[in-house]
Amino acid sequence: MKILGIESSCDDTAASVVTSDKDVLSNVLYSQTLTHELYGGVVPEIAARAHTEKISDVVKHALFEANCSFEQIDVIAATGGPGLIGGLIVGTSFAKAVAVALNKPYVPINHLEGHALTSRLTDNIEYPYVLFLVSGGHCQSMVVRGYGRYSMIGSTLDDAIGESFDKVAKMLGLPTPGGPSIEKAAQLGDPNRFNFPIPMFGKKDFSFSGLKTAVRIQVEKNCALTEQDVNDLSASFQKTVCDIMMDKCRQLLKDSKFINIKTFVLSGGVGANVAIRTHLKKICEEYRRDLVAPPVNFCTDNAAMIAWACIEKIDAGHVGDLNFSPDPNWRIA
Ligand code: KG4
Ligand code: ZN
Repeated sequence: MKILGIESSCDDTAASVVTSDKDVLSNVLYSQTLTHELYGGVVPEIAARAHTEKISDVVKHALFEANCSFEQIDVIAATGGPGLIGGLIVGTSFAKAVAVALNKPYVPINHLEGHALTSRLTDNIEYPYVLFLVSGGHCQSMVVRGYGRYSMIGSTLDDAIGESFDKVAKMLGLPTPGGPSIEKAAQLGDPNRFNFPIPMFGKKDFSFSGLKTAVRIQVEKNCALTEQDVNDLSASFQKTVCDIMMDKCRQLLKDSKFINIKTFVLSGGVGANVAIRTHLKKICEEYRRDLVAPPVNFCTDNAAMIAWACIEKIDAGHVGDLNFSPDPNWRIA
């Protein structure tokens, strides 16, 4: 089976062709980062317009790279939520139109499910596993026992983890997206210069607003930040986020409820962060578990994860649904 996946829930227009044998035949992405940079964050209306302009070319490009015609596609999948409604409408409507024209099924996919199942495509892992889904819009831990079988363990009470990277980067005058900028600046900084609090220590839920405020207070104390200040603040912030993630992971590694679960997965855009990956890998090894994190370009938003989630969804017995309406708040657990 060949699936055409489409992703347009935020500021990336992406399309990919993936086979049921886990071959990623193409994975094309048009990033709107430069379009939004001027405004310091994603502007929903501008994002929707950019998706409208790009989606057709991005899909054609994905088919071209996959050396595949529209007729050779078996199923069309698109992100149906959660996300920004304008982009979701563009992707869903485009996918439905292609499906109707080709008389093939259209399958709506939950974006979080895309992130949650990616490592089954990239690293061939088996169910069950403990998942840390850490992205720009979400931060949660859950047990994944099969397609559609997700039990939430903890989630954020306020900001998403990626959002805190983005906001801190903005305070420090670093370019968007904030995560990679902070990671780069942190390489040249002293992680021990500033001591930031670890919110919700020892609890399963997450919180980042207090940490963000602590960074802001330090920024406001120094009216003119030097480059070294920015690097040190980045390194100290990133170290605190690593400490937070290690605290959450350690709690689950020690919990007898999860003792039989051998694989821990880090997924979502923040999963691209090398420091977080390295720290979690080390602590998982201490408890004789495997930490799996997809390759960096499969952590951040992409359409291959949408195509793959579609394959899992079909395997679980779901069929196409042309009546689906995009849902900006679609939950999975
Ligand atoms: O999964 P994603 O591409 O989109 C959402 O579903 O939200 O995640 C985007 C988020 C952004 O907040 C971005 O700053 C963060 O992931 N991010 C990173 C890194 N690369 C992307 N955060 C920390 N370190 C990185 N290397
Ligand atoms: Zn995402």
